[in-house]
Amino acid sequence: MPAEPHRFREVMGHFATGVAVVTCDGSDGPSGLTTSAVCSLSLDPVLLLVCLDETSRTLPALAAAGRFAVNLLREGQEPLAATFASKVLMREKFEAVTHTVADGVPVLDDALAWLACELRELLPRGDHTIAIGEVTALDADPGGRPLLYHRGSFTGLHYG
Ligand SMILES: Cc1cc2nc3c(=O)[nH]c(=O)nc-3n(C[C@H](O)[C@H](O)[C@H](O)COP(=O)(O)O)c2cc1C
Repeated sequence: MPAEPHRFREVMGHFATGVAVVTCDGSDGPSGLTTSAVCSLSLDPVLLLVCLDETSRTLPALAAAGRFAVNLLREGQEPLAATFASKVLMREKFEAVTHTVADGVPVLDDALAWLACELRELLPRGDHTIAIGEVTALDADPGGRPLLYHRGSFTGLHYG
């Protein structure tokens, strides 16, 4: 099968991921979007990466802020994931959830885990930009269960 974009997306959909809301602060208020293209990159220094669509409104906000947070969502937060994946006003996205500012970045209340990052590099590649961040603060709910994304649908962990 040729690697057409829709086929690429369909095949990569077999790679189940977590769901994260990437957030940043700015003079116009906080920005954020739902992501699945999140990956740990290095332990020394502690780096992660997230891939952002060139057309995302959050990308220029993140570049200007120089800091961002990765908020890992928990089971049951599908509506929040859908809101942050929409093109509603940023203000409306942040009306759907309360947040606090920790380490200079918006941390969503009740996230399964969060990592605050200092932006280290932006690497434009194809129609996305890779944002590399150095983790400066982080926390997790050890008893929580993650929201997952698989083949175009939200799902959760199912133990046999
Ligand atoms: C499960 C899921 C995962 C997504 N993953 C990404 C991603 O990794 N990178 C990205 O740029 N957009 C991703 N999107 C799409 C963005 O959330 C969506 O285009 C968003 O509205 C764009 O952000 P903006 O509001 O900052 O413009 C994903 C959407 C969903 C539903």
